[in-house]
Amino acid sequence: MVLVIHGPNLNLLGVREPNVYGLKTLSDINSSLRDIAAKKSVELKIIQSNSEGKIIDVIQKAFHQDVDAIIINPAAYTHYSIAIRDALAMLDIPIIEVHLSNIYKREEFRHKSVISPVVTGQIAGFGASSYILALEQVIRLINN
Ligand code: DQA
Repeated sequence: MVLVIHGPNLNLLGVREPNVYGLKTLSDINSSLRDIAAKKSVELKIIQSNSEGKIIDVIQKAFHQDVDAIIINPAAYTHYSIAIRDALAMLDIPIIEVHLSNIYKREEFRHKSVISPVVTGQIAGFGASSYILALEQVIRLINN
């Protein structure tokens, strides 16, 4: 099973700063991911939370569940949540960090990801397609 975690404020995609994050809603993105997963016969679990603790609980549960890989957009937590980083660091599965925007092209405080050192790879800057690219890559990784 591939676990997709959307962090804070991503529930408002489509209306939230569309010039930065695009017009696609979270449910548009989730539908595209579900279509790809269905075609490849991959089970997908998708969650969104605005709360750091909830995200950590979900990551911890991945220990006990049959999770093959994680795709995570930690949103603002990317830049300062050592707790989410530590939770991810415990896992020995492929983890892809995703950002809709190119965080390195934006304000300086977004240039630092505390998550990147514990993930397999990062995809940033392709809008909703960042998630698609991540899922395609994850499927490739788990099928090898
Ligand atoms: C984001 C980038 C973060 O800096 C920001 O706080 C977000 C979204 C992105 O997907 O581009 O909420 O993770």
